[in-house]
Amino acid sequence: MARTDDAAYLRGSGSFHHILPLHRSSKPDVRNVTFSVASLADVDAITARIPAAGGTVVSGPQPLAEAGGGTAVVINDPQGRILRFVHGDARHLEALDRAHRDAPEHITHVVFNSTDVAVAQRFFEEALGFCLSDRTKIMAFMRCNNDHHSIALADSDANTLNHIAFVMPDLEAAMRGAGRMSDAGWPIEWGVGRHGPGNNVFSYFVGPDDFVIEYTADVLQVDDSYRTGGPSDWGWPARRFDQWGVSKPLSDRIKQAQKKIRFIEQ
Ligand SMILES: [Fe+2]
Repeated sequence: MARTDDAAYLRGSGSFHHILPLHRSSKPDVRNVTFSVASLADVDAITARIPAAGGTVVSGPQPLAEAGGGTAVVINDPQGRILRFVHGDARHLEALDRAHRDAPEHITHVVFNSTDVAVAQRFFEEALGFCLSDRTKIMAFMRCNNDHHSIALADSDANTLNHIAFVMPDLEAAMRGAGRMSDAGWPIEWGVGRHGPGNNVFSYFVGPDDFVIEYTADVLQVDDSYRTGGPSDWGWPARRFDQWGVSKPLSDRIKQAQKKIRFIEQ
């Protein structure tokens, strides 16, 4: 972990320098969501496409003056979220030891609530190169690599944060992680279960400041041959909330929390 006077940069068990920076603040807002980009040319290409797609370039591309570094462009999307696209950031070469084998590896997806999912979806497609994996009655699942989704956009009445999903090495680690959270006083608010779109195992928690956290594993790997599903392809029978039939419905607490966290205003 790297630390400054008012920030802590927490790593996962994977190679990223950090996966979750926490900044001192009077409000529990999201400052930004940062994406790892494969090349500087891709950072430049994203930068060039932002204005025509309805976003704003806030800064860069330029060196990022914070732990981990790299070259980043910072943008504002059409619904006010601050997104950063980074290449050349520092990486850990060594794996964490066995004591941390059940720790989250990295953030595998973030779900945004959106007042107009079509607008957000178009921006992620046209400016950022995402494509739609599945559209359910309530959510658009978007991918930018072989993971079934890295972003999902949920129909809502405000542009807030729905949840952040940390990927665990495997199903066993996801279950151990859920047990560890329960032991520490953060009970499962939804799950354990296996989702429909993405086929991933899930358990959800309401964390500090009511941030909604998902522990997940087994995310479906897809390629261009994946058939994009629509609302009629996805639905559960009455009283079903996951593929296994073991998950209870979402708690009232998580339903409130997943609408609560706002994005900082630029
Ligand atoms: Fe999720």
